Amino acid sequence: MPIIASNFKTNHTRATTASFVKKIDEFLKSNSISSEILVFPTATALDKFETVSNLTVGVQNAYGVQSGSYTGEIGTCQLDEFDIKTILIGHSERRHILGETQESIAKKYEFYSNLGYKIVYCIGEPLEVKEQGLEKTLEYIYEQFVGIDTNYDNLILAYEPVWAIGTGVTATVEDIISVHKVIKEKINKPLLYGGSVKVDNVQEICSLDGVDGALIGTASWKVEDFIQIIENTKDL
Ligand code: 13P
Repeated sequence: MPIIASNFKTNHTRATTASFVKKIDEFLKSNSISSEILVFPTATALDKFETVSNLTVGVQNAYGVQSGSYTGEIGTCQLDEFDIKTILIGHSERRHILGETQESIAKKYEFYSNLGYKIVYCIGEPLEVKEQGLEKTLEYIYEQFVGIDTNYDNLILAYEPVWAIGTGVTATVEDIISVHKVIKEKINKPLLYGGSVKVDNVQEICSLDGVDGALIGTASWKVEDFIQIIENTKDL
């Protein structure tokens, strides 16, 4: 069964998130769909969603603390209020736009893994690295595993080439297969692909060798489209 995840990024309000989660939850239950579905709304939209299906709500980011003086951040004190136990770590937007270093990412990973959180850990290379070929791409990706315990039980990996994120340019089947193959040989964990996954390519991508599901931004934000994505992959 595939793992299908929606990353809202900075989209949806508290009200539209609640309606999205409710619709997906009802859809999964009424159709007895057993795919693992993850939704990552904004922190302001977190709530006790009390879902009845195999839909899990996670957080896109949090700081590695229980509470304290970290202006603008949230910690487990805020996550516990809503029973959130799933977190995205290492997303390229946090690495490249928000300036998170591998060191700070590894620290966050250690903190949340010690608490048993389900971690979706993202890796992926920028265009200038991809253009140097597979060997350089893999070298770059290996650097993103520095300080990361890849034997951690509750780990899901997501390969998201930076040049494919939000650009409409999906990696080719060959690109995906070749990178996934090498990662899978080294790390025996579910591995999602992300980067311009859409309603009409999700089935093909999720059927590839070494692909265990998809982490989706843009194409997942309309609830009807996300339902279609789930529908298109439910029997894989
Ligand atoms: P897009 O699906 O918009 O390319 O975003 C992918 C992504 O970054 C998911 O985390």
